[in-house]
Amino acid sequence: MLKIGIIGAGRIGKVHGESISRYIKDATIKAIADPFMNEATKAWASSIGVDEVYTDYKKILADKEIDAVLICSSTDTHSTISLEAIKAGKHIFCEKPVDHNVQRIKEVMEALSKTKLKYQVGFNRRFDHNFAAVKKAVAEGRIGELNVLKITSRDPGAPPIAYIKVSGGIFLDMTIHDFDMVRFISAAEVEEVFAYGDALVDKEIAKAGDIDTAIISMKLSSGALAVIDNCRRASYGYDQRLEAFGSLGQAAIANDTASTTVISGEGGVIAEKPLHFFLERYMQAYVSEVADFINAIKNDTDVPVNVNDGLQPVLIGLAAKRSIAEKRPVAIKELMEEYSL
Ligand SMILES: NC(=O)c1ccc[n+]([C@@H]2O[C@H](COP(=O)([O-])OP(=O)(O)OC[C@H]3O[C@@H](n4cnc5c(N)ncnc54)[C@H](O)[C@@H]3O)[C@@H](O)[C@H]2O)c1
Repeated sequence: MLKIGIIGAGRIGKVHGESISRYIKDATIKAIADPFMNEATKAWASSIGVDEVYTDYKKILADKEIDAVLICSSTDTHSTISLEAIKAGKHIFCEKPVDHNVQRIKEVMEALSKTKLKYQVGFNRRFDHNFAAVKKAVAEGRIGELNVLKITSRDPGAPPIAYIKVSGGIFLDMTIHDFDMVRFISAAEVEEVFAYGDALVDKEIAKAGDIDTAIISMKLSSGALAVIDNCRRASYGYDQRLEAFGSLGQAAIANDTASTTVISGEGGVIAEKPLHFFLERYMQAYVSEVADFINAIKNDTDVPVNVNDGLQPVLIGLAAKRSIAEKRPVAIKELMEEYSL
């Protein structure tokens, strides 16, 4: 039985805590750490059978019985805790992004390369039943040669301005998942990015130095083209759709809904709204990604989302940011040269 430590008991730490305790038979959570370990968090930990709780994650890293850690703390702590966990010999599941700073991700990659430790990045959408089915159809050649990949990714509402200020911007916080989807579905690399964006939802977001609505066009190494449209507000819920169009046809998915009921009447035909947000839409994906991480440790196989998969979407996000600032297409090669990658 693998012993796990969870670092960070906020929204996503709780999701992983609950999915391991409920659904994963080969692993048990030994300890949880969070600097804000209040009574409510302790009660939650106890409800999933964990009584070892700390305010300092270093206690988890020092525990020789713990095989692996899940880094679910705020983004600005990920690379530091990753480096310390590597030193402590723990396998690591790190929530996205590894860091906003490419240099810091390189340090994590270098430290990892000297070990045999597993390091998985939390790009959960790869494990979503819909996206995985499109990936399979494309990989099996059912749409022929991929020509155009279209992703729509809209949140039900913008986060608080305080969050926007520390988020790293829409591309590194939100679109990063869509950049990962482009790489995952196409099995190609993004070579060039051109982006338009503005604060159309809330002018306060512009004042905080960010945008809330964007269109990003990309050229891929396979020759295919990709486009993502993002918005921080969709009045009807979490809008997560994708279409892969190729020489033999297309593979597309609709949003998941609570039920497939359609009510028809004089006033029209009414179906359910999309599931509200990521906690509703991706719960199955969160369980599957951690199950695969545990299996990779147990069977000594490759993790499904490695540290390079963590790096590439950050480079694409930085290129998109630069494209907006400088009003020009930006090649990923340009950034790779700057960072000596
Ligand atoms: N993959 C996904 O779909 C997904 C979804 C949500 C969040 N995330 C990522 O997960 C991370 C956390 O997001 P969240 O929404 O759970 O945030 P949150 O604010 O709800 O939780 C973060 C927690 O980390 C704790 N923390 C801060 N510093 C810490 C430290 N040094 N040691 C231990 N704990 C520490 C905070 O006290 C807080 O409880 C972010 O990096 C975010 O990008 C990923």
